[in-house]
Amino acid sequence: MVILVTGTAGFIGFHLTKKLLKQGYQVIGVDSINDYYDTNLKQARLNQLQKHAKFHFFKYDIADQEAVRSLFKRFSDIEIIIHLAAQAGVRFSLENPYAYIHVNIDGHLNILEQARCLSHLKHLIFASSSSVYGLNQTLPFKEEDAVNMPSSVYAASKRSAELLSFTYSHIYGLRQTGLRLFTVYGPWGRPDMAYFKFAKAIMSGKPIEIYEGDGLARDFTYIDDVIDAILCIMKNIPDAGTSQTFNIGNNRSESVRYLIQLLEEQLGKKAILHFKPRPVTDLEKTWASIDAIHAKTGWTPKTDLSEGIGAFVEWFKAYI
Ligand SMILES: NC(=O)c1ccc[n+]([C@@H]2O[C@H](COP(=O)([O-])OP(=O)(O)OC[C@H]3O[C@@H](n4cnc5c(N)ncnc54)[C@H](O)[C@@H]3O)[C@@H](O)[C@H]2O)c1
Repeated sequence: MVILVTGTAGFIGFHLTKKLLKQGYQVIGVDSINDYYDTNLKQARLNQLQKHAKFHFFKYDIADQEAVRSLFKRFSDIEIIIHLAAQAGVRFSLENPYAYIHVNIDGHLNILEQARCLSHLKHLIFASSSSVYGLNQTLPFKEEDAVNMPSSVYAASKRSAELLSFTYSHIYGLRQTGLRLFTVYGPWGRPDMAYFKFAKAIMSGKPIEIYEGDGLARDFTYIDDVIDAILCIMKNIPDAGTSQTFNIGNNRSESVRYLIQLLEEQLGKKAILHFKPRPVTDLEKTWASIDAIHAKTGWTPKTDLSEGIGAFVEWFKAYI
């Protein structure tokens, strides 16, 4: 079976591609290797993937219509698309909002436009985000909650992609699943994310910038659990014309202070905390209800934060 993974050199794309190759699938990987964060890290991930004979890599921008069209023509036997390529990050969307429209909306539309012409396509799975819950105050976040108050351009772009997917399922009968991912962390993770930045600051004795208030909390989801969830969903193909949506989280809201405490313990050093106001783009608290994905696929996360941070720190010390 041929599977297309976009964002294959990214954090989640790398782990997913590795797992799919291990299970014997042929993987077509696409990534633009943009410089939003250290490209050496992306290249190091890619180097591991390129050792596999069944992996074919293309350095393409998913918003490039001609490039995506030619790729889909060449691999017309693609049966599953797992579309993870994106401009990620909430804070950077204040600096460069256009990048989010380019990749997360134009790029997403481009994937949909080409996907509808693939005659063997069984399932298009794409990454959305917990950020779509925006100013929603009811916890835990449930898939049926209203999601019309995004608090950042990143969130608005991800919600727009969900809506475009719904429309393409409705018009062309595409079978799709959108994944609302909640703060994914682990080895080979993203240097722009808080847990990674905190670890770096603690190691080098620099202060950590933490938002004021005691309520700051996230549903932290370990990478291996996310990959297991995607594999469960892959086998769970929705009916024609359906674009279903699932939260993927750890089903717990844990304080950012607790995250820092775990990092201090694992790194054996105290953090220096600098407090600053929380930007209006950032949610105070996230917490995923995972009843829907559990009912549909039986998936449940297995890794608690302490164990997952332990695995991250082990990798981090060896890599940095
Ligand atoms: N990591 C998380 O906590 C988290 C949370 C919610 C949602 N998500 C979503 O999951 C997906 C994967 O996230 P990640 O953490 O692996 O991020 P990542 O930034 O590590 O991976 C995304 C990859 O997409 C690539 N990319 C960006 N623009 C591209 C373009 N125009 N064409 C082709 N490739 C392009 C990047 O080079 C990168 O390698 C993203 O859609 C992200 O928005 C992640």
